[in-house]
Amino acid sequence: MRDLLPSAVAVAVAGPADWSDDLLPAERAALSDRAVPSRRREFTAGRVCARRALAALGLPVTPVPAGADRAPIWPAGVVGAITHTHGYCAAAVARAADLRAVGIDAEQHRPLPEGVRRKVCCPDEEADLARLPAGPQWPTVLFSAKEAVYKVWHPLVGTWLGFPDARVTLDPDAGTFRADIAPARLAAAPVSAPPASVTGRFAVDGALVRTAAVLLHR
Ligand SMILES: CC(C)(COP(=O)(O)OP(=O)(O)OC[C@H]1O[C@@H](n2cnc3c(N)ncnc32)[C@H](O)[C@@H]1OP(=O)(O)O)[C@@H](O)C(=O)NCCC(=O)NCCS
Repeated sequence: MRDLLPSAVAVAVAGPADWSDDLLPAERAALSDRAVPSRRREFTAGRVCARRALAALGLPVTPVPAGADRAPIWPAGVVGAITHTHGYCAAAVARAADLRAVGIDAEQHRPLPEGVRRKVCCPDEEADLARLPAGPQWPTVLFSAKEAVYKVWHPLVGTWLGFPDARVTLDPDAGTFRADIAPARLAAAPVSAPPASVTGRFAVDGALVRTAAVLLHR
């Protein structure tokens, strides 16, 4: 993820031991007793990365619990995001004084199931994807970009953002994307100046699609 984010963002990517490390008590409380081992492992790797990224920012290491909406609860004055997929986990954090929001996502680089693709990509986006060069699984890149955008939007605005609510354009040469938020979602946002657009970067390396979005202060 480091390559996709500005230097104000501290990034930690999980190593092999991080998936079975210890949680802090406040974090353990956020994980259901009934969590299956794979869920326990990904949640643990996310918390270990989150705390390592906080330390890299020079902040004291504190627990990173989760809210009722599942979003990580960052220490005051910090924005950040966590992602995990099979074999990969990362956390990215920044001082809120430097950035309004950060969103990251990772997905396996494989075709998006047809039913998911229909929910994720609107007709305009499908028309764009048809014009992109062959090779990468573009619908999966677009899906990942929307997940990263959601992690920017939700902690900041607090309202739902569905897949049709963000029109994402990919620039394959620059490795960037732009999400324009539907006017109706902006009008209904309960905060002043919700982000009308979110920009980010993507990378497709072998088995993995990675996306990262940041929102700058105006
Ligand atoms: C929340 C969501 C974005 C997570 O993405 P994902 O690809 O399924 O999974 P990832 O592993 O990348 O991310 C999971 C992490 O996201 C974080 N997360 C969960 N809910 C969140 C929220 N409301 N806001 C910010 N981050 C959230 C958590 O850290 C979670 O990991 P954890 O539970 O172990 O702490 C996704 O499950 C979802 O609900 N999507 C529907 C909404 C959407 O994507 N809209 C698109 C609008 S353009």
